[in-house]
Amino acid sequence: MAWHGTAWRYTPLGYRVSHFLCTPSLLKGVHISYNTYMAVKGSDPTLKIRELRSTLAEVLQQVENGQRVLVEKYYTPVAAIVPISDYLALRRLDASRTQTQLTKEKHMAHRIVVTNISGGEGKTSVTRELAFALLEQGYKVALMDTDPQASLTKSLGLHDEEGGLGRDEMPGFQEKHTVLGAFQKESGEGRLGPPIQLMDLDIWVSNDHLYGADTLIASDLSRLGNLREALDEVSDQYDFVLIDTKPGITPLLNASVAAADHLIVPISGDKGTENLDKIVRLIKAARGFAPRIGVRMFVPNRVRGNTRVYKELLELMQSYKTVAPLSSQIRDSVIVMEAARARKSVLKYRPGSEVAQDIRNVAQDLLMLLGVVAAESATGGQS
Ligand SMILES: Nc1ncnc2c1ncn2[C@@H]1O[C@H](COP(=O)(O)OP(=O)(O)OP(=O)(O)O)[C@@H](O)[C@H]1O
Ligand SMILES: [Mg+2]
Repeated sequence: MAWHGTAWRYTPLGYRVSHFLCTPSLLKGVHISYNTYMAVKGSDPTLKIRELRSTLAEVLQQVENGQRVLVEKYYTPVAAIVPISDYLALRRLDASRTQTQLTKEKHMAHRIVVTNISGGEGKTSVTRELAFALLEQGYKVALMDTDPQASLTKSLGLHDEEGGLGRDEMPGFQEKHTVLGAFQKESGEGRLGPPIQLMDLDIWVSNDHLYGADTLIASDLSRLGNLREALDEVSDQYDFVLIDTKPGITPLLNASVAAADHLIVPISGDKGTENLDKIVRLIKAARGFAPRIGVRMFVPNRVRGNTRVYKELLELMQSYKTVAPLSSQIRDSVIVMEAARARKSVLKYRPGSEVAQDIRNVAQDLLMLLGVVAAESATGGQS
């Protein structure tokens, strides 16, 4: 059933014609369309409200009878008048959506960037080994290699030529598997290509294409937040995303830090302590994108416990405790280098070694610091 009418009325602004259409709607109730316009120039959209007012009593009667009314303005639905029971149902739906959203947020990955401005401190080794230690505990982990040197990618064998494949055919050399895509669009439109899957890990690899990232970001500094935006879109698929970074400050390092919420600093020697003020500056710069970012722990790496130099270094590191705690130590062990050469994690290469246990202890410290496990279940930690 449908009915409609046309009404001419004189208003202070001139003659106005109103078309009034009422049809059974898809929403089970009545669909009222108000196409109201002035018969003279200077139509005033507020008049439509008066039109609604003039029929409101009738509309409310219909709504009380359980019908839903859709109000249109220039053929576009702008509002609906619904029975109170429908409204309350919608409120309940909203509440459950908010709950779902919160649950989803709880499942967002912990994003961890491993950095030290100095070279050779163990960024790549610590990133790789922590990933495997977390994997060993059943977590879903992704790795990002944001260093154009591609040490992490290489240490996982993804640049090793085999099977007669040319470089262009090997996934490890393809641009689409790097994070470059995130920087190729304007701010907030960053997209990651597909990661490579290897040994239960998802990996965004590095290769020569990534050398283009600094120029892309420098040409439009709003892209500094692009990697973070891109990571937002996939973050719910992982428990942890670990980002290996390049030595030296360039826009790509800034963007990598801005993509994370937690920063880990491996320190292997005196040089590793020299640039800590720069790390503080990196963090400050990242806060515009990552408000919660902070140093979560310093990781003493390549520790040779009995030497005087290392005792002094550890004492120096203790003084950083006000910034962040020191994790358990990772000893200096040739197994770390051997494992990388064998394209394996230490945990797979020599799972029972002391250095493998050091790494597990650091992972446990991390889980504790992030509140993923309770303090008493952490096995690592040093006094
Ligand atoms: N605990 C360790 N014991 C022995 N060797 C180690 C240890 N940690 C790292 N190394 C070795 O030290 C070298 C530098 O380590 P790594 O590549 O992890 O440092 P990095 O900070 O990533 O370096 P870059 O700044 O070049 O990216 C590598 O050859 C690595 O195998
Ligand atoms: Mg490295």
